[in-house]
Amino acid sequence: MKLVMLDGYTKNHGELSWERFESFGEFVNYDRTPSDHDTIVQRIGNADAAFTNKVPITNAVLDACPNLKYVGVVATGYDVVDLAAARSHNVVVTNVPVYGTAAVGQTAIALLLEICQNVGHHSKAVHEGRWASCPDFCFWDYPLIELSGKTMGVIGFGRIGQVTGRIAKALDMKVIAFDEYPNDSGKAIAEYVSLETLLKTADVIALHCPLLPATRGIINKDSIAKMKDGVIILNNARGPLVVDRDLADALNAGKVFAAGIDVASKEPINADNPLLTARNCFITPHISGACTESRKRLLEITADNYAAFLAGKPVNRVDTQL
Ligand SMILES: NC(=O)c1ccc[n+]([C@@H]2O[C@H](COP(=O)([O-])OP(=O)(O)OC[C@H]3O[C@@H](n4cnc5c(N)ncnc54)[C@H](O)[C@@H]3O)[C@@H](O)[C@H]2O)c1
Repeated sequence: MKLVMLDGYTKNHGELSWERFESFGEFVNYDRTPSDHDTIVQRIGNADAAFTNKVPITNAVLDACPNLKYVGVVATGYDVVDLAAARSHNVVVTNVPVYGTAAVGQTAIALLLEICQNVGHHSKAVHEGRWASCPDFCFWDYPLIELSGKTMGVIGFGRIGQVTGRIAKALDMKVIAFDEYPNDSGKAIAEYVSLETLLKTADVIALHCPLLPATRGIINKDSIAKMKDGVIILNNARGPLVVDRDLADALNAGKVFAAGIDVASKEPINADNPLLTARNCFITPHISGACTESRKRLLEITADNYAAFLAGKPVNRVDTQL
């Protein structure tokens, strides 16, 4: 049995174990694989199973690798695999539906707290000697914001949105949510409102919806115009939910007070992305799912998926969802 991990590095920097994968047979991990057809085909070769996070598995790749029986997507989103082609080649495809829900909610709140308290900035200032040389017992050089009593509006109130909502409630915020499919667990945390109402009334807007035709560019100059002056926007769902230029303009004009984003319209972020130079834009490099515990869980579930496939009872199958 041959197994190939095509891009293991972003999930395992070497501190986690590949033991489970090695236990299945001859296992090769590539930290990265360029997305060109020939390299992908050469690396999969005659393997029985391939694992991918971002490396595309196309119809042409499947044609060129006839021994492949299984593709394990080491992620939740599985758009890197041509599912119709997988079906026609009788290749089973699985994903990991849930592994970092708590950590992604935690990251949204981490971005919000950084915006409101500027811990990183003030700690740096202290280490640069600005407190030691200060004539007063304290100093700050950035507006500090109290969240208690403010309104958090969550767009997409599913698993992650509800984690963010629960933490926001613990910070004594009022939580409102817009979701196409309200549910009971959401109702226990937030008041569901229309998108219009959310845009008009939230002090902080957090995006936790999937990227769909209906949500692509949901944060744009028209929706921003409806928001409160000084609103804070958080996006650690998907970059294309936001029209970068429109958000950058609104930040520079002060209409949006600050933004906290962990995803970009293209990743890694383009060096000329206008958000890089926009005022008060806090950007982290797609680390929401990178907590050690989450990545460990991701690899465990990926291995469980493969074990279930070998036992003839595949779970978390996505090729049958067409
Ligand atoms: N940054 C990261 O590392 C990372 C990691 C995991 C997930 N994510 C993103 O977070 C998103 C949410 O993940 P989740 O686990 O909470 O998914 P989920 O399916 O539990 O929740 C998504 C919610 O969005 C709602 N929704 C669907 N269409 C909508 C629309 N048009 N408008 C408003 N709401 C809509 C759904 O009804 C659902 O309640 C994912 O789709 C993914 O894009 C990011």
